[in-house]
Amino acid sequence: MAKQILVTGGTGFIGSHTVVELQNNGYEVVIVDNLSNSKIEVLDQIEEITGKRPKFEEFDLTDKNKVKAFFNEYSNLDAIIHFAASKAVGESVEKPLMYYSNNLNSLMNIMECMSEFNVKNLVFSSSCTVYGQPDQLPVTEQTPRKEAESPYGNTKSICEDIIRDTVAANNELKGIALRYFNPIGAHATAKIGELPLGVPNNLIPFLTQTVAGIRPELSVFGDDYNTPDGSAIRDYIHVVDLAKAHVVAIERLLNDKNKANYEYFNVGTGNGVSVLEIIESFERATGEKVPHKIVDRRAGDIEQIYADTSFANEELGWTAQSTLDETLSSAWKWQTNIMETEK
Ligand code: WQD
Repeated sequence: MAKQILVTGGTGFIGSHTVVELQNNGYEVVIVDNLSNSKIEVLDQIEEITGKRPKFEEFDLTDKNKVKAFFNEYSNLDAIIHFAASKAVGESVEKPLMYYSNNLNSLMNIMECMSEFNVKNLVFSSSCTVYGQPDQLPVTEQTPRKEAESPYGNTKSICEDIIRDTVAANNELKGIALRYFNPIGAHATAKIGELPLGVPNNLIPFLTQTVAGIRPELSVFGDDYNTPDGSAIRDYIHVVDLAKAHVVAIERLLNDKNKANYEYFNVGTGNGVSVLEIIESFERATGEKVPHKIVDRRAGDIEQIYADTSFANEELGWTAQSTLDETLSSAWKWQTNIMETEK
């Protein structure tokens, strides 16, 4: 009997790529999503890629009664991957209460049902934002968490504590938090990818929309940082590599390979890349020019962060495989495919 995995937020960017990898590895998947930041057509694309259509339930995870009814109906879940959350940094500064309410209540509703319905295993979508601006680089899992730069980042930190404390109180439960660095790119088929609604906040979708002529010019937020070329540095990881880390984390829990009931891992490439290096790499990888200008720093941005990935490499037996050029090319292929399908 195939193991059944609940993927909340499974029609989203990272969620949909993870559903593809789970189904390619023989797992049965049920997605719960409220479609507030994704499109139901993603289910068609997942079916086209994998030959299997995941089960799908549309409701909001902050609705406790609906969550309970779902767990009643799907009584043989083996594990949960929880992606569903509001995730726009800037919006979280304007609407902190919405972020705390949505991101914390959805997790708490799920964890209450895990205890009640005996679903033991949880993988949680966390973020390197919990490190703030680290004092040392690269960051390891021992690097102390810092005051998050935004309410969004703070919800990730608080959710990690909720999981840590809940599994400590109920040792039947086990949790793994994956601290993502900067997920970018798209599936090789270009059938799924990042679908930002409105003007993209993140670098890569804004860059590809600029090259596509949808945006006039990319603004580089600052070239006066204390970095080799002055622009800010991040650890950009291919979303498919990130998705595969979730499958490995699920298997660690299902096979009882975890060494503690709560574990957390940095999931990055280990390479720090600046904004200007991203532009150079994109132009080299695609042959396309990126119209851009240097402007002032963006409020709340940190100067640089990139991961020490040795713990995930050794403990999970997982390493990011894609090169930066391959990753940026996949982002461009996705952008050109969207434009084709929207014609
Ligand atoms: C990357 C770099 C910008 C846009 C955020 C969240 C993080 C995660 C990923 C959810 C920065 C620069 C950007 C632009 C630019 N989100 N930039 N021009 O801020 O590192 O991380 O998104 O999990 O939690 O904090 O990602 O893509 O916004 O920015 O110069 O138009 O690109 O200053 O240096 P960020 P980003």
